[in-house]
Amino acid sequence: MTTRRHFLRVLGACAGVGAGVGFYTFEIEPGWLEIVRRPLPLRRLPPPLIGRTVAHLSDIHIGPMVSDDYVIDTFRRVAALKPDIVVITGDLMSWCQGWRDHVAAVYREVPRGRLATIASLGNHDYGPGWRDHAIGDSLAAVLRSCGITVLRNQMLDVEGLQIVGLDDLWAKRFNPGQVLPTLDPSRAAIALSHNPDTADLPVWGNFEGWILAGHTHGGQCKPPFLPPPVLPVRNRRYTSGEFHLAGNRRLYISRGVGHTVPVRFNVRPEATLFDLQGTNG
Ligand SMILES: [Fe+2]
Repeated sequence: MTTRRHFLRVLGACAGVGAGVGFYTFEIEPGWLEIVRRPLPLRRLPPPLIGRTVAHLSDIHIGPMVSDDYVIDTFRRVAALKPDIVVITGDLMSWCQGWRDHVAAVYREVPRGRLATIASLGNHDYGPGWRDHAIGDSLAAVLRSCGITVLRNQMLDVEGLQIVGLDDLWAKRFNPGQVLPTLDPSRAAIALSHNPDTADLPVWGNFEGWILAGHTHGGQCKPPFLPPPVLPVRNRRYTSGEFHLAGNRRLYISRGVGHTVPVRFNVRPEATLFDLQGTNG
């Protein structure tokens, strides 16, 4: 009898822990944003930009799976940091019927950089199947109407810093040859490229500096001390965070703000605030 009572008590405790973990995974962590602050050292950074900040948002996924209130609260938290430059590295939406008005209403609230507010596109920005170029073009127009500069294999000069926005790999719009050869190698540059696998492609030439990416969402769920089991990249090292690459390049992968499925465990959503630093190394 005592053994049976003990067994039922253990079973009850396990069920309680399971329910708690489930509640946390579905209801808490997907909306528990972490603001990550870190340096962004760049060679040949123009002196007026030393100490300025770049806010990096990625994978916001406006649509049926992500709460607008959560995104707008994230926008307000980032705006309160008064970033000099805001960059968004793709998957700004998850396509659904009636997306235009919805996306426009949310991105009207986007935090503005003092100097620039820039986005590049990701695979989800091209609709179902990721290949509908008309949807990508329409989204770019909506974002521009909200005051965001959308770079599609283009470069914007921000006070002497070259910011390159590369279009999406899976949408078959990644075309670095259109923009990288136009860069001035004597000046600092940052590239926005949604899919971190692009960092491994033999396309970068003498590009030095940072590639900012997203796409993985950090895997969304990760057992402690182990890599996430689900990652949409060829290079399985590319989970999240910083990676040193050949050619004096560095890659930073954001865990993203939103999600495609509202589940996160041990991979909190992220907005990143970089402090621009000059460096000789
Ligand atoms: Fe995404």
